[in-house]
Amino acid sequence: MYICLEGIDGSGKSTQIKMLKEWFATIGQQVFMVKEPTESDIGKLLRNMLESTRATEDNFQNTLALLFAADRTVLMEDIMKAEFQGKVVISDRCFYSSIVYQNDGEWISQINKHAKKPDITILLDLDVETALHRCDGTDQFENRDFLEKVREKYLELAKKENFFVINANNGLNKVNDDIKRILSPNFGICL
Ligand SMILES: Nc1ncnc2c1ncn2[C@@H]1O[C@H](COP(=O)(O)OP(=O)(O)OP(=O)(O)O)[C@@H](O)[C@H]1O
Ligand SMILES: [Mg+2]
Repeated sequence: MYICLEGIDGSGKSTQIKMLKEWFATIGQQVFMVKEPTESDIGKLLRNMLESTRATEDNFQNTLALLFAADRTVLMEDIMKAEFQGKVVISDRCFYSSIVYQNDGEWISQINKHAKKPDITILLDLDVETALHRCDGTDQFENRDFLEKVREKYLELAKKENFFVINANNGLNKVNDDIKRILSPNFGICL
């Protein structure tokens, strides 16, 4: 099973994924953790580029979109291998992030056509004001107008692609319980 957490910067993805990893350990389920950008050479290049002050400009976004798509093709082999080994893949972002952060449209879908769709996508929906308070302000994407657009696109995509949407304004444990309630039936657990 391939599970993905999506959401704007500061919505709590990394925090919740850490908590999920511990929960899966208690139920004896092996996991394979994924984070985009990855640790590949392309991922390292991406991380450097994401620090550029031009990171939110349209043209630069196209370059980022291509690199993210390339980084994902490397990642897909690892995901398939982990699934074959019976591990649950938990991913911090996937190609859906490209659709909402980079310029969307058919082109993004085309260049990501080799990216596997997650079986379950959970959107941590958070208002931008709270997200900005939670972030440290160093990321180029931590920009009010930009994040408002991204949040709107996420909510549109959630309807189209049947994401589970969770209110990420709630406390850590409540958010975690909501995520576990979504996942539990897939692991024969009744919460
Ligand atoms: N439900 C919550 N309530 C209060 N604070 C939270 C909550 N979830 C996360 N935080 C805090 O908000 C900050 C951002 O969380 P986190 O790093 O998990 O977000 P993220 O979605 O991974 O962000 P990014 O996309 O930038 O990696 C952290 O300091 C974290 O402790
Ligand atoms: Mg994170």
